[in-house]
Amino acid sequence: MPAVLISPTPVAIERAAHLLRAGELVAFPTETVYGLGGDATSDRAVAAIFAAKGRPRFNPLIVHVPGLDEAEKLAHFDERARLAARRFWPGPLSLVLPRRAESGLSLLASAGLDTVALRAPAHPVAQALLRAARLPVAAPSANRSGRVSPTTAAHVTAELGDLVALILDGGACPIGIESSVLDLTGAAPALLRAGGVPLEALTAIFGPIETPAAGEAAPRAPGRLASHYAPGLPVRLDAVSAHPGEAMLAFGRAAPAGFSEVLFLSRSGDLAEAAANLFAMLRRLDRDEFSGIAVMPIPEEGLGRAINDRLRRAAAPRDHS
Ligand code: TXA
Ligand code: MG
Repeated sequence: MPAVLISPTPVAIERAAHLLRAGELVAFPTETVYGLGGDATSDRAVAAIFAAKGRPRFNPLIVHVPGLDEAEKLAHFDERARLAARRFWPGPLSLVLPRRAESGLSLLASAGLDTVALRAPAHPVAQALLRAARLPVAAPSANRSGRVSPTTAAHVTAELGDLVALILDGGACPIGIESSVLDLTGAAPALLRAGGVPLEALTAIFGPIETPAAGEAAPRAPGRLASHYAPGLPVRLDAVSAHPGEAMLAFGRAAPAGFSEVLFLSRSGDLAEAAANLFAMLRRLDRDEFSGIAVMPIPEEGLGRAINDRLRRAAAPRDHS
């Protein structure tokens, strides 16, 4: 049965909240990417999320709440974690914290870890849905495992159309790249995934932060597979000239000559604009008529770190099935 795609009126949000409480899956917009949401306290709903995405069970899910009050019922917050939440919530930051024994969360959502990743998204539709559902909502990005994350409702339909009860259409996601995942269970904060909150903003508050190298199998980041965010076509990074038949994802004023098609992530060199365009443009160029997608160099600073992280994984050897 194809999913119902509706605009997020108050009635639609009530309906979506009702579906979540009934154990169904609902896709909804956040300011980062669209999420595939299910009741985080229900093993059955969480299992349905893993099944819909074809996601390995060792890769835990982010649990979404409206804010810090709800989050404190699920995990142990120390002063450092409260500081992070007060400074960056609601927003594009997920915090990995010790899960409370009495949290009521499905253990499947944490993939057997004694921690949980929590996020309070800022998007008004996500906020309204979480408040209406009165449930913690487990929500990975609403794409098939290993593929490019969805930043529009149409992307969700293309990825998971038949597998979700309802899609709330909130338009294009303004940030366009996933949340930063910050692990606060160790002595020093560790950035498990670069994302919507730049490393520089975290360092300004916490001082030095551990950052696992790209592609490194960091034990505390079970879901960080080397190949991920991958379109069907091969992706080639740091391209300065064209190979036959390639399409180009350009950054800055001008692109090298000879490409079959060129899309500009940002002509003005604005990293926020580039992040917002990244996944949608990768999808637009992912067409059989091209031999591959070449990408110009992106500066490794601010949101550029998250962009480069996703691009490196999109370009990595495809070792997953
Ligand atoms: O922006 C986002 O974060 C989106 C929106 C929908 O909120 N969600 C998202 O979820 O990107 P997902 O499942 O695609 O990515 C979650 C990441 C994975 O890399 C996973 O391994 C990590 O968070 N993660 C989740 N729980 C964890 C935990 N307890 N410990 C370590 N890493 C965890
Ligand atoms: Mg994902």
